[in-house]
Amino acid sequence: MSEAISAELYGQAWPCSGVAVNSRGTVYESRCAIAAVDQMLTGKSIALAGFYFLRRRETVTMLKISDVCVRRLARELGTPLQIFDQAAIEKQLSTAQENFRSEMFDTEVAYATKAFGCGAMYKIVNDAGAYLDVVSGGEMYGAHKAGMDMDRVFFHGNSKTEEEIEQALELGCGTIVLDNIGEAEKLVRISDKMEKGIDVVLRINPGIEAHTHEYVITANIDSKFGISVKKTSDIHRVMSIVDDGRFLNFKGFHMHIGSQITDPDSFGKAIETMSAFADDICERSGYAAEFISLGGGFGIKYTESDKPVPLGEMARYSIKKCEEVFGKAKVRPKRLCIEPGRSVVGEAGVSVYKVGYLKDTETLHYAFVDGGMSDNIRPALYGSEYTCAIVNKENDEPKRHYCIAGKNCESADIIIHDAFLPELHEGDYLIVYATGAYGYSMASNYNKCGRPPVVFVKDGEARLVIKRETYEDMTTLETDERIEL
Ligand SMILES: Cc1ncc(COP(=O)(O)O)c(C=O)c1O
Repeated sequence: MSEAISAELYGQAWPCSGVAVNSRGTVYESRCAIAAVDQMLTGKSIALAGFYFLRRRETVTMLKISDVCVRRLARELGTPLQIFDQAAIEKQLSTAQENFRSEMFDTEVAYATKAFGCGAMYKIVNDAGAYLDVVSGGEMYGAHKAGMDMDRVFFHGNSKTEEEIEQALELGCGTIVLDNIGEAEKLVRISDKMEKGIDVVLRINPGIEAHTHEYVITANIDSKFGISVKKTSDIHRVMSIVDDGRFLNFKGFHMHIGSQITDPDSFGKAIETMSAFADDICERSGYAAEFISLGGGFGIKYTESDKPVPLGEMARYSIKKCEEVFGKAKVRPKRLCIEPGRSVVGEAGVSVYKVGYLKDTETLHYAFVDGGMSDNIRPALYGSEYTCAIVNKENDEPKRHYCIAGKNCESADIIIHDAFLPELHEGDYLIVYATGAYGYSMASNYNKCGRPPVVFVKDGEARLVIKRETYEDMTTLETDERIEL
């Protein structure tokens, strides 16, 4: 019995059907899972009362990620389940670092935690010598707890609380990225009081309309983020407030024009705008920016219609453009930074669901799965599209157009509107690709659905890095305490 096997039941009703899979990928189907396993082990057909047909299906390629069988993971941990290919994450990070290099500047790659963050992820970032971008006390706390070198942390956000600013100073965050005048005033007050210092960068809004979804454009002229390049008096005001801080060092400027950008031209224009802005500020105030961050936003492939420029090429394009533009400018910063999030983890992550029910309407074949907008809100929020496959049926011919619907109580909870797939059955596992970014990190426990477990796989081994959120977990904060006012 050294052969690794697995079996599962389809449905609760008796006689239930089942499937057993051996480690070579041979699939045995039966009206009972036990019979299927038995068949596999003995290699004989067995007749058991009540068990109907027993047949050996053709050998299929097991769907594996980094040599780990997806079906096995799903069976072991249940669904919904999030799996990341760790080597793919590491590769993306190093690709960004290797391609965003220059003889002219020092360069930094800061991973944007908001795409997906947890202790295991922070460790990867730290070990790669990369920087980290956090936008809240929670992300900062997690990074610190995981042992991240806090000097390499940028603290972003447009509405930092007093407590978060104190926390950044207490934990020794390297840089704070200010977003508005009020934040600058608060920072000076707190840092003077705590007698703790931090490097300061100001987020400016270059007013570039990146070609992407309106919800992820961040640099249109009325954006909530940063101070518009046109508002030079506000920018000067922030600089002079920071200048008054006894423990603060103003280092330069930051921008981020949006997300899921597939057109390098948008970055090119933003770099030109940033350079012209840096020259202008220098002319007016004599201040020559030492540091400039270009932000993140590099697009990834979700469906066939997405044609992203790969991260390495985008990073190379950006640095070449910086050399060309800043090379001719009055102000040449010493250090440049990019902040990729989605492009580091997006395609490295998949979600696995189990098909619970099938339902036909006049025009649609629905497949209902056991997760949905509570573990991935992007389709409902942005109309984001994904591709999927049936685990271990990826060699089968597609037969039907299915609408893959989630289990949350919202009509908008449709994971994929039109998935052309082989015939689906209850109990099939469905794998949705490229869910690594802004899936888990935006997950909620809406409808009191627990967040899924997260697994990192590498070199044939799987590690559980976040446990499934249990019902108990979801009630631990509930209390009944009288508040004395
Ligand atoms: C300031 C900043 N940097 C970086 C990112 C990461 O963007 P992406 O995940 O698209 O690379 C974001 C995303 O919203 C951001 O706001």
